[in-house]
Amino acid sequence: MEQSKARVTAIGTYVPEHRLTNHELAKMVDTSDEWITQRTGIKERRIAAENEFTSDLAVAAIRNLIERYQKSMDDVDMIIVATTTSDYIFPSVASQVQKKIGMKQTGAIDVNAACGGFGYALHLANGLITSGLHQKILVIGSETMSRSMDYEDRSTCILFGDGAGAFLVERDEHNPSFLSYHLTTEGEGGIHLYRSGTATMMDGVELKPTGHLVQNGREVYRWAVTTVPQGMQKLLEKSSYTLAQVDWFVPHSANKRMIESICEKSGFPLEKTLISLEYCGNTSSASIPLSLDMAVQDGRVKKGDKILIYGFGGGLTQAGLLLEWGVES
Ligand code: ACO
Repeated sequence: MEQSKARVTAIGTYVPEHRLTNHELAKMVDTSDEWITQRTGIKERRIAAENEFTSDLAVAAIRNLIERYQKSMDDVDMIIVATTTSDYIFPSVASQVQKKIGMKQTGAIDVNAACGGFGYALHLANGLITSGLHQKILVIGSETMSRSMDYEDRSTCILFGDGAGAFLVERDEHNPSFLSYHLTTEGEGGIHLYRSGTATMMDGVELKPTGHLVQNGREVYRWAVTTVPQGMQKLLEKSSYTLAQVDWFVPHSANKRMIESICEKSGFPLEKTLISLEYCGNTSSASIPLSLDMAVQDGRVKKGDKILIYGFGGGLTQAGLLLEWGVES
């Protein structure tokens, strides 16, 4: 990989106030705290207020980042938002964020790679900065997954929650954060995880036209535990690092059992794996920054640590990146 010239210099996160616990969910659908905990590891998830949309969550995460960064953000020259739950089909969430934060000199674009979105957005930011086209980019994963849920589908609505996370990526030729990457797409598997739009068929299969997230949970599970360990290996083979040199693994927080299986297959210790699903559920493109920030805030993750983030989900897409953590503690 060409030497990166981009560094992650700040992080911020936000989750909505309202907690939806497993016990409360059990009053809505035929399920139980025991079933959800045992099959997924999730105990509760956050749900956005009626007047709180994906761009509001993104703005709150950026405000948290600004508070911690303590330097001017006036020279941000691009905003990239990874999301599948935009406020409008257009304008983009990124342009709503630009308006609400009031940055004047910036481009703004949304990226849709489902739960792989944050990794894709970071990869684009690294490319734009390393090429010299941009200098300072805000990368945000923000989702109101609750708005895409069918709260009668017990195998799906128990999984997802709302939240947002933001990274600031800046030009730094001497201390780059981006060490390696691995991106994949398997469009043939798209039918296993979708939310219908204008088309009513995919690959000859009639879609559920509800606008709700629809998944074949078993198929997604099987795909992830098989292909993610292989992807992690490929990513490391492209770098000069071994698995033993990775300080933290931050997989997309989809399901704890799935992550345990990925760790077992890849040979990575579970104790060095960061997740946010226990208290946030699956927050799609927001899950990786949320997991990472919890460990930044409690002092586990430190500047210089090698962090392997790995997103996977609808598409089917995957985006893994090996990062050197560049944020001052
Ligand atoms: N409560 C109680 N019982 C349930 C529930 C529930 N919430 N959901 C399903 N069941 C029942 C099923 O009806 C089935 O009953 P049956 O045997 O009588 O038919 C039984 O539990 C087993 O169902 P399975 O679907 O086989 O359960 P499984 O162990 O596979 O767990 C789950 C289901 C949790 C959805 C799992 O497959 C999973 O997590 N898959 C991955 C899904 C995922 O992560 N998707 C998103 C990834 S990418 C992205 O984030 C967009």
